[in-house]
Amino acid sequence: MENKTIVIVASECQPFFASGGLGDVIGSLPQKIYKEVNNKLEDDKKNNVVVFLPLYSKFTKDLRNKLVYVTQLTVKLSWRQQYCGIFKYVEKGVTYYFLDNEYYFKRGNYYGYFDDAERFAFFSKAVVDSIIHLDIQPDILHMNDWQTGLIPVYLRTNYYGDLRFMNTKTIFTIHNIEYQGNYNLDQDIIEDVFGIDMNDAYILEYKGRANIMKGAMEASNFVSTVSPTYANEILLPEKSHGLYEELLRVKAEGKLRGILNGIDKDFYNPAKDKALFVKYDKKTSELKKENKVNLQQMLNLPVDENIPMIAMITRLVSHKGITLVRDAFEKIMNEPVQMVILGTGDVSFEGFFKDMENRHGNKLRAIIAFNQDLSRKIYAASDIFLMPSIAEPCGLSQMIASRYGSVPLVRRTGGLADSIVDFTVKGNGYTFDNIDAGEMYTVLKRAISDYYDQDGWAEKVKKVMNVDFGWTKSAKEYIKMYQEVLG
Ligand code: GLC
Repeated sequence: MENKTIVIVASECQPFFASGGLGDVIGSLPQKIYKEVNNKLEDDKKNNVVVFLPLYSKFTKDLRNKLVYVTQLTVKLSWRQQYCGIFKYVEKGVTYYFLDNEYYFKRGNYYGYFDDAERFAFFSKAVVDSIIHLDIQPDILHMNDWQTGLIPVYLRTNYYGDLRFMNTKTIFTIHNIEYQGNYNLDQDIIEDVFGIDMNDAYILEYKGRANIMKGAMEASNFVSTVSPTYANEILLPEKSHGLYEELLRVKAEGKLRGILNGIDKDFYNPAKDKALFVKYDKKTSELKKENKVNLQQMLNLPVDENIPMIAMITRLVSHKGITLVRDAFEKIMNEPVQMVILGTGDVSFEGFFKDMENRHGNKLRAIIAFNQDLSRKIYAASDIFLMPSIAEPCGLSQMIASRYGSVPLVRRTGGLADSIVDFTVKGNGYTFDNIDAGEMYTVLKRAISDYYDQDGWAEKVKKVMNVDFGWTKSAKEYIKMYQEVLG
């Protein structure tokens, strides 16, 4: 691949702003792609990698000042006309463009507003208009999740026949099929909000609603998701969240791919992580105990370097398997363990863990928050990382935990099945199969008793820390997919 322009679009990106795994992926993948795709290429043959993002007001402070204003335009969407400022930032070869509109993006959060459909329709339209305004000629246009799903639809409708996009190939990546941008048709949403002619409405219409993810799948050349197992799972009616028929079609057309994510090994590196009490690497993994003792002091738990610490860092929502933990909780608390839970989510789960903390104050800390710094301290301090997800497109926490020597215990679903294999079959962690609290507890008991064999455990920690979950392999697979779609 030479002299191509790859444009990646998403609604989150570390370190600027992120609420979950999508932000991690977009924060590292484009730079890795830039590096791999231009490996050994001379300057005049190098491929461009460009990323488009919304300019939220909720933006990491010191980075916001580094953005440079480029230009502005007016974006027309149905009867609306909106200002769009374009700001730029360059890092490791990748050019990031941030699209500014305070009416849509000056909010306390990224999502969860009554007008999200309109906000991201604006963003999607603004991306296409900015590409034209900046005179970019995309060969690959790679969208991520429903917030960007109208872009391929616009290319098929409002911009159909535009020479600039004649040779542009589109890829839509699903990070989680649960969130589709699925709206009822009552308010004339396709014409009035998305600015798409009723003759083209069929692209978005699905089961009597306007479904952006469906439109994106129909309009894109390729559809990918974030692990091979998840790419198969979503073909099952009960796991497709209603998109079954559409997915089967995508599959039958040979457009469906599954590529496992990686993690940024510099961003998550216990040997350099400033958040840790004590830094360490795989040769000095016994220093995890010092991190444990320090965290116990900080959280006011009994100090004991030899008690296994179980960690969960997760959104507290049902697809993360929180009910399994809830159902086995009293039994877990009867084991010689400590447990630290960090996350926010459903009030009922938050309440449950707070109650449990009152009852088991010397064994459990439940911190209801999203806190990067603390999460790193917990990865470093803990021994067992529990991730019993019901569904998990890829999952990054099990990879981060491995990097920090916290041994993952996962349910075999989606990307968890693709990244963690049980020790009993020469693997790198503990796994169980069924959505069953008893089964999870049995495996957890095995992990706890393994922990008390200290030499054996040190071996396991080494093994886990040795697994390479870096981006290089995945970046190469993305590039292969780009080549394939370019034909
Ligand atoms: C979503 C998925 C998660 C995945 C992440 C990045 O957050 O739920 O499994 O790791 O996207 O692709």
